[in-house]
Amino acid sequence: MLNIAVLVSGGGTNLQALIDAQKEGVLKSGRLALVVSNKKDAFALERAKKHGISTAVITGTEIEAELQACFESNAIEIIILAGFMRILSADFTNKYKDRIINIHPSLIPSFCGKGCYGLKVHEAALDYGVKVTGATVHYVNEVPDGGRIILQKAVDVYEDDTPESLQKRVMEQAEWIILPRAAEIVCQKWSDI
Ligand code: GRF
Repeated sequence: MLNIAVLVSGGGTNLQALIDAQKEGVLKSGRLALVVSNKKDAFALERAKKHGISTAVITGTEIEAELQACFESNAIEIIILAGFMRILSADFTNKYKDRIINIHPSLIPSFCGKGCYGLKVHEAALDYGVKVTGATVHYVNEVPDGGRIILQKAVDVYEDDTPESLQKRVMEQAEWIILPRAAEIVCQKWSDI
């Protein structure tokens, strides 16, 4: 079993989906070993503690050095960005090539890239008038939302959607389903090597 670190900044509903998937056996080739937040009051940390997962908070200016130290001391092999609001450098992503994955709440390459996160993604989708949106899990490289795609799932847009209602449907119908599945795919891939 590979040791997984989940990086968070907020509520952690995607972390919760991973925790549930581990319990249900959907995520079985890796184990949630560590949750790291760059915000000390992120609710995601409470979710981790409740389930006995080690936590760490990184607040310094040398975020990547802190992360690396955390990963090394916890023997981390796979890294999942689940609402982590920091962009990682090429140096860092190259060190963990094909071992870092991210969830983005649109069908990449639409509505993604630098500055396109959170509710802004859904606002942009509604402004454009798309009738289908969704979520994407992809490998992380130095280009924001630019790495190779692992899984995607489409979600219908309704006439009366607000950014908030669309965000909720994309989470429930896509993000929470594909993130655990993609985590299992990547863990299995590295277990076979
Ligand atoms: C999700 O919409 C995810 O796609 C994005 O950030 C949000 C995190 O939500 N990258 P949560 O903290 O998992 O609830």
